[in-house]
Amino acid sequence: MSKIVILTGAGISAESGLGTFRDENGLWAQHRIEDVATPEGFARNPDLVHSFYNARRHQSSAAQPNAAHMALAQLQAQHPGEVVIVTQNVDGLHEKGGASNVWHMHGILDGALCAACSHRWHAAEDMHRGTLCPSCQMPAARPDIVWFGEMPYDMEQIYAQLAGADLFASIGTSSQVYPAAAFVHEAQAAGAHTVELNLEPSSMVSSFAETRFGPATVIVPRWVNEVIGQP
Ligand code: APR
Repeated sequence: MSKIVILTGAGISAESGLGTFRDENGLWAQHRIEDVATPEGFARNPDLVHSFYNARRHQSSAAQPNAAHMALAQLQAQHPGEVVIVTQNVDGLHEKGGASNVWHMHGILDGALCAACSHRWHAAEDMHRGTLCPSCQMPAARPDIVWFGEMPYDMEQIYAQLAGADLFASIGTSSQVYPAAAFVHEAQAAGAHTVELNLEPSSMVSSFAETRFGPATVIVPRWVNEVIGQP
């Protein structure tokens, strides 16, 4: 009945055609973080920010879950204990792949947040500087994405999940962004076995008890089969 907590990053969606951030030609090689992923950048040039996230929203809604997403949904369905997915990703591919109990700590692309009253709502269509908040009617809608310098969502609940973990897996993340990068230490402190699954060693590789390297669509289904005892 062991409890499994899984952290995912952009690498799990790379084979679904969604760019990662820090790989060669990644999003941060093409766009300045200061311009498109900070509240200051949004204040300076909301049109630039809206067009960046509108384009990502289109891509993400056209993307399909891959074998790694599906394998995690299968793990949730077949493992007798609880399986919690904490994702840094803002695409909906975990849910599209059949997963539930997914915590989007960095927000979600098909969501909007009001910069005036903090109201949050589902918004799958394009946003622009005039988009109104349905609650306060101010033209203050922004993508519901946690930007640099902002507090990720649901941190109290996420730390509570980590504190109860027996097995912690980190999948497809470079482990360069905090607080997610330190989750392995939280899980270790709770006595969990820790495993990193990634294309290459992450910045936190030495903190993991076990590591597996390769494309997520290959190594994640293999790992899930082992956990659920399937050949
Ligand atoms: N399979 C497995 N891992 C992969 C694959 C793949 N097919 N392709 C790339 N990777 C790995 C890379 O080796 C890299 O370590 O995925 C990782 C992606 O790292 P980043 O681009 O840094 O993305 P991530 O760790 O999710 O970024 C964290 O930073 O920019 C912010 O808020 C943003 O949520 C994001 C956070």
